[in-house]
Amino acid sequence: MITLALSKGRIFEETLPLLRAAGIEVLDDPEKSRKLILATNQPEVRVLVVRATDVPTYVQYGGADLGITGKDTLLEHAAEWGGSIGAAGLYQPLDLGIAKCRISVAVRADFDYASAVKQGSRLQVATKYVSIAREFFAAKGVHVDLIKLYGSMELAPLVGLADAIVDLVSTGNTLKANHLVEVEHIMDISSRLVVNQAALKLKQAPIRKIIDAFAAAIAK
Ligand code: PRP
Repeated sequence: MITLALSKGRIFEETLPLLRAAGIEVLDDPEKSRKLILATNQPEVRVLVVRATDVPTYVQYGGADLGITGKDTLLEHAAEWGGSIGAAGLYQPLDLGIAKCRISVAVRADFDYASAVKQGSRLQVATKYVSIAREFFAAKGVHVDLIKLYGSMELAPLVGLADAIVDLVSTGNTLKANHLVEVEHIMDISSRLVVNQAALKLKQAPIRKIIDAFAAAIAK
C-alpha cells in the first residue's frame, strides 16, 4: 500500500492533475465527504486528508509514505529538527510549483514600518511562521517579539496585538479587506513533494513511479 498525505483545499485541488498524470484518480471529494482516508482507482494507493501543518509529521513517522505541503510548512517543521528536513527523515525530491504564494510582512496602512525599522524599535510581530519570521528579522538586525498565532493573523495589528504580521499572501485580497499593506516580501512559496526516506527504500518501485510521473507532469 502506498499512502499519500494531502491537505484539503488548494493543495488538494492542484494535486489532482498530477495524480491523474500518474494514473491515480481519487474516488472521494474531501469537500463533500467526512472520510479521512480516501480510496483511489488503484487499490494499492490511498490518500490521507490531514491538516497542512501535519503533513510533514505524518510522512516523517511513516503514517504516510509521501506528502505534499508548502515550503512554509516544511521550513517550520525543519526548524524543529535542527533546520534540516533530512534530519527529520524526509526526502524532498520535487518542487511541484503548485499552490504558489509568498510570505510577506504586512502592517496597518497607517503604521510607519520604515521608520520603526530605522529607529531600531522593537517590533511586535504576530505569525504562525515563527522560525521564518525569526530568521528574516535576525538577518535584518531588527529586534522582534514574536507572538505565535494559528490563523487569522490579519486581526493582530487591527486590535493592537502586534505591529506587524508575517503571513502568506496569494491574491492580496485578505490584506486589502483588512486595511493592511505588504511592506516586505520574505520569500516565494510553492508546494513540495516529501517522501519518507525509509519508505522510499522499502517501496522503491511504486514510489519512484509516482515521483517520475509527477516530475514528467510538471515539466510539461
Ligand atoms: C491564507 C493566509 C491569508 C490568506 C491570503 O489563509 O493566511 O490569510 O490565505 O490569501 P489572499 O492573499 O489570496 O487573500 P488561509 O485561508 O489559508 O487560512 P489560515 O488563516 O488558516 O492560514
